[in-house]
Amino acid sequence: MADLDANVIVKCKGTGNINEVLVVGDDADVDKLNILEAKVDGEGEVKHVPVVKYEDDRYIVNVGEVEHPMEEEHYIAMIELIADGQTHRQTLKPGDKPEAIFIIPEADDVVAREYCTIHGLWKKE
Ligand SMILES: [Fe+2]
Repeated sequence: MADLDANVIVKCKGTGNINEVLVVGDDADVDKLNILEAKVDGEGEVKHVPVVKYEDDRYIVNVGEVEHPMEEEHYIAMIELIADGQTHRQTLKPGDKPEAIFIIPEADDVVAREYCTIHGLWKKE
C-alpha cells in the first residue's frame, strides 16, 4: 500500500492535473504524484487563507481576508469545508465570487481548504 491518505490533494507529475484522493488504490504509485501540502500562513496569506464563519444555519467561507482575484488565469478553483470528517466542496470559475456557502449543522471540528490556480493549496484549521 502506498503512503497516501484519502482527502489528500495531489498533482499528477505527468499531466499536471490536480486531484483529490477519494479512495486509495491498492496500486497507488506516489512516485507519479506530488502531494500538495496546504499553506496556513506566509506571503499571500491575506488573500488565500479561508475565512470561515457560521451564521443562520450555514457556513460561509470567503477567500480570504482580502478578496482573492477571480481572473482568467488566476482564480480560486475550489473551496472545501471538512466538518466533523465530512467533505463539502464548491468548485468555482473565473468571475465567480471567491465564496462558498454550505447549509449544514454547526460542527465541532472544521477545516476549510481552497485551491488557487497560481498559489496552490491553503487551509484554515
Ligand atoms: Fe492566488
